Amino acid sequence: MKKLLFLLFISCPCFAAEPSPERQTELRNLLKNDCGACHGLLLQGGLGSPLQPQDLTQKSDEFLIDTIASGRKNTAMPPWKPFMTQAEITWLVNLLRNPN
Ligand code: HEC
Repeated sequence: MKKLLFLLFISCPCFAAEPSPERQTELRNLLKNDCGACHGLLLQGGLGSPLQPQDLTQKSDEFLIDTIASGRKNTAMPPWKPFMTQAEITWLVNLLRNPN
């Protein structure tokens, strides 16, 4: 019973501070395939700006989250809000800062 409650707790999105492990895998793939298409496979930059940790030190979480959520007008950067939640975008920004 305790185990069941625990499973409910970790799988319910309403409690989740971060995406489920499955969703984390999806987001990592998306980062590599979709974001990587413009930002470079290693996020070293391409059509889009480089997104490696050292490139982001001067930029606030808020600024980065907003760029990913809404895209950037008059540039190729599309809005990702239709495809991921704010919490997922926040998790992605943290991943960009602390890749592993
Ligand atoms: C179709 C190409 C394209 C795709 C796909 C794309 N981006 Fe971008 N992105 C850009 C461009 C171009 C810019 C630079 C916009 C500018 O000139 O200000 C940018 C800017 C950004 C910035 C701001 C960087 C900075 O230093 O200000 C972030 C963060 C970012 N993208 C994250 C992402 C993430 C995360 C994804 C995938 C979910 C993604 N992008 C997918 C083209 C793309």
